[in-house]
Amino acid sequence: MNPFPGQSLRRIAPWVPRRRARAVPWDAVDVRKVEAADTLALRQRVLRPHQTIDELAREMDERDAVYFAAVEDGAVIGTASVHREAPPWAAEDLGAWRLRGMATDAARRHQRVGTAVLNAVVEYVRERGADVLWCNARATAIEFYMRAGFTTRGESWEEPMIGTHVAMQRPIAVQSV
Ligand SMILES: CC(C)(COP(=O)(O)OP(=O)(O)OC[C@H]1O[C@@H](n2cnc3c(N)ncnc32)[C@H](O)[C@@H]1OP(=O)(O)O)[C@@H](O)C(=O)NCCC(=O)NCCS
Repeated sequence: MNPFPGQSLRRIAPWVPRRRARAVPWDAVDVRKVEAADTLALRQRVLRPHQTIDELAREMDERDAVYFAAVEDGAVIGTASVHREAPPWAAEDLGAWRLRGMATDAARRHQRVGTAVLNAVVEYVRERGADVLWCNARATAIEFYMRAGFTTRGESWEEPMIGTHVAMQRPIAVQSV
């Protein structure tokens, strides 16, 4: 905190080390609800390069999901979707939501874009009374999800053309005001 309000701390105390340059904080990333079609190109490029955009679009049409995008200069640089679905291990759970299609443009990874998109999803489902958010995580994304409070559930499996997956979940606590 600046102990000399109204004056530049840098001028008063030039010996104070500058803060390390950081990526944009997650809450500075512009995350919005968008149409499924807006996320198609990024999803196909990052998650389903073995499929065509049309194939992916047909798959996405089958779900009644809400789509989020991190947008920068008009371009979608991160995305995820979420829809109500009980996980296989708790088929009766009406408060469960499933996260799908998390992807950040390769050039923008490790800059909190994924965290910002995931936080928006968590807020969205929390406001709708969710008790749990779950996903089938790619092995390469497990650490990302763990940092966001997810834990793994059950054994991993191989998804043809995509790779090793494991189910993950995190509780969604209702925030008290
Ligand atoms: C998984 C994925 C969506 C994460 O997106 P991302 O935008 O890179 O995510 P974040 O930047 O919020 O977090 C990623 C990492 O950066 C770190 N990070 C980000 N900004 C940081 C900062 N300012 N200071 C320190 N660490 C930071 C995070 O802690 C995290 O660390 P880790 O990679 O060592 O675990 C992205 O890697 C991706 O698209 N992967 C390919 C597709 C995929 O596997 N999707 C998941 C399908 S289940």
